[in-house]
Amino acid sequence: MRNLFRIIRLIPIYFFINLRRFISEKKILNVRNNDLLNNGFVKFKSENGKKIKEFLYEIIEDPETAEFSNLGKFKILNRNSFGVKTIAIDASSKFLHQYVFVNEILDKLKNYYGKEFYLRNNPTIQFNYDGEVNDTQFFHLDYCAKQTSVMINLNEINSESTHMEYIEKTNKKYRFVIPDREEKKVIDKIEKISKKYIVAKTTGNIGDISIFDAGTGFHRQVAGGKRVMLHLNFTENLAHTGWKKNWNPKDTDYWFSENSEILNNNLFKMITKKFKPSLMTPKIYYKIKI
Ligand SMILES: [Fe+2]
Repeated sequence: MRNLFRIIRLIPIYFFINLRRFISEKKILNVRNNDLLNNGFVKFKSENGKKIKEFLYEIIEDPETAEFSNLGKFKILNRNSFGVKTIAIDASSKFLHQYVFVNEILDKLKNYYGKEFYLRNNPTIQFNYDGEVNDTQFFHLDYCAKQTSVMINLNEINSESTHMEYIEKTNKKYRFVIPDREEKKVIDKIEKISKKYIVAKTTGNIGDISIFDAGTGFHRQVAGGKRVMLHLNFTENLAHTGWKKNWNPKDTDYWFSENSEILNNNLFKMITKKFKPSLMTPKIYYKIKI
């Protein structure tokens, strides 16, 4: 009974989220070659992507030095026995504005959302290592509302490397309940779906950029060897930012350290906007003074 309540209590919220989505997607249905909307996944070669690899070379080779680097503002968030796992990047770092917040990425997101969208959290550099043991993840959805991931390969990634898989077109469905990724029935159903559609991978060359909707489409991480990538998340509502309640770096200045002109842009509104403390507001939004 409790379980049933847990499942149905979100249906009215999803009804609202889906209605908003339906209205905004009406505007973009006729955009031509809108692969991100049609498939939920798009991958392309990028000169900017290659430049990022060159620019961040020092940090990629020796991530322990990141916090002393003047290439941008970085904070090491976690390590394991193999080395640094995640480095957060302050969004006012200039190289992001030069190579990442640029039209080849933003235009695709614009055509995907059909409305305003925002950077959800700090961009990160993620490291996986040869010999590292990872649990292979189950195919899953993040929240069932639009949330796009941008992954930029900073090393050559083949099918033996750690990478993401995405079942194309699964983003098209409107859902009212988040499927339990570990439930046998769900696993069997996704297995069937994965045979029907193309399973795209984020494998490729240095600089290749994959964008996919992790909110509405089934995806999983495939465990493997070395991978370095730049990762960004974009969203269009506050519901996606709940995880930030747990994000508590000691030096909160690293969230957005500069009240820079550069962040006076719609893209950053979800982060620079000051919300009143309330039950629904992630603490990170009212803790930080900008
Ligand atoms: Fe996910």
